[in-house]
Amino acid sequence: MTVLASSDAVVEKSATNGQVLGVVDLRPSISVIGLGYVGAVSMACLSHLGFRMVGVDVSFEKVRSIKEGRAPIVEARLGELLAEGVEKGRIDATQNLIAAVLETDVTFMSVGTPTAADGGCDFSYVRQASRAIGQALALKSARHVVVLRCSVPPGTTLDVVVPEIEKASGKKLGRDFGVCFNPEFLREGVAVADFFAPPKTVVGTSDEQTAGQVAAIYGAVDERVIFTSIEAAEMVKYADNVWHATKVAFGNEIGRLCKSLGIDSHDVMDIFVQDKKLNLSPYYLRPGFAFGGSCLPKEVRAVAHIAKCQGVSVPLVDSLMASNEAHIDQAVKLLEPHAGKRIGFLGVTFKPDTDDMRESPTLALMARLLAKGEQLSAYDPNLDFGPHLQGQIDYVKHASPAQAKLMDALSTMVVDDAATLVGGSDVIVVSHATAEFRAAVATSAPGVHVLDLARLYRELPTNAEYQGIAW
Ligand SMILES: NC(=O)c1ccc[n+]([C@@H]2O[C@H](COP(=O)([O-])OP(=O)(O)OC[C@H]3O[C@@H](n4cnc5c(N)ncnc54)[C@H](O)[C@@H]3O)[C@@H](O)[C@H]2O)c1
Repeated sequence: MTVLASSDAVVEKSATNGQVLGVVDLRPSISVIGLGYVGAVSMACLSHLGFRMVGVDVSFEKVRSIKEGRAPIVEARLGELLAEGVEKGRIDATQNLIAAVLETDVTFMSVGTPTAADGGCDFSYVRQASRAIGQALALKSARHVVVLRCSVPPGTTLDVVVPEIEKASGKKLGRDFGVCFNPEFLREGVAVADFFAPPKTVVGTSDEQTAGQVAAIYGAVDERVIFTSIEAAEMVKYADNVWHATKVAFGNEIGRLCKSLGIDSHDVMDIFVQDKKLNLSPYYLRPGFAFGGSCLPKEVRAVAHIAKCQGVSVPLVDSLMASNEAHIDQAVKLLEPHAGKRIGFLGVTFKPDTDDMRESPTLALMARLLAKGEQLSAYDPNLDFGPHLQGQIDYVKHASPAQAKLMDALSTMVVDDAATLVGGSDVIVVSHATAEFRAAVATSAPGVHVLDLARLYRELPTNAEYQGIAW
């Protein structure tokens, strides 16, 4: 007779006299392949949470170190937790990957993914480990879960790991084994502390059963697991690290510039980081159209100029206008297949809710199309062709000679309302994500193509006529 003792265990009792025969742990046992910085920390921390762990590495030294409860690397609290795990009988380690997979329910893979000779990702360790997992699964009847923890290019889990496992095992993803991508966000030096207080826990998987199993493992440290697709989870890890690198490079460029100007960069950045509304926030981080307006391009140019005068190298700042231009180039490219059609723009000013046209990236796009001889029209609720707008038109003509022809013709292109624009266009380019434009686009006739530069909808339309610039 079994009695549920907690969500983690059942007590087995004698059916005749009720005597306790033993306690069965319901938690999955976990094998960890690769006992480096990520794997060793996973071993230590998950064993501390009560999981039975089996570590695997090709290195005899690392295996011996883990078996003896010693940290194979320098990492705060790691030795202490490994020793605790060994003492409580929750930690074992081996060089025999197949045996480790066979005696566990879940396998975490944390082998290295170094840079390949061509600058891409070297998959050789991931392939070897996946093949060996497949060989083990060929011998196993119970369902197994494989959790990829390495940082890899999007597509690796489904295009590299799964085919290797299926080929070696003869088994099928979903039916015989589950797979998920669970990126690791630890920082070396404080990795144990990060494990118990993670910045986030992300599980990318294609089936709910696997998602639930993996989320349950992290239940004690993070109840708010973020579920997503495997590819999005893979990409998040890369996006995170590129962002962190961007932050460091940015801070250091500001630092070099400040030093050359006799300003204490820590005074500047201490103030900078206090702005949680625009600086350290989701603001400006959603993909959309290029930046513009009266401030951002002007000030990027100004800072690049100061740096040049000071003889300070700021390649990140110098790259920003080129990056912005590349985004406008992409919009031009996406419209190339529609050459000769009537192209209507919803939104002309540099962003919604303003009449400011200065350095509007939409005007830059329209000017490029006009120069190619395209037939354009536009609607913007904030454009009012009075004296104020004429001042802006004169300003744009002066600041951007490439847009002079467009500025002269703009008043003849602009129509009075969104319905007229939509009704008279074969292609609609949306620059502002407003309720008015969303409603207008919804009335477009079948066959009218929509190029969305502003992300009108969170859930994307699936019709072939709809296209986004970065989604
Ligand atoms: N180090 C970090 O802070 C960190 C953080 C997040 C993500 N990551 C990612 O996690 C992965 C692992 O990183 P790491 O720093 O722990 O690497 P690491 O080089 O320290 O450890 C990898 C281990 O895998 C072992 N290994 C390789 N092939 C094996 C095989 N076939 N069978 C068994 N063991 C094998 C190696 O011997 C090594 O001990 C990488 O993809 C890395 O990008 C690392």
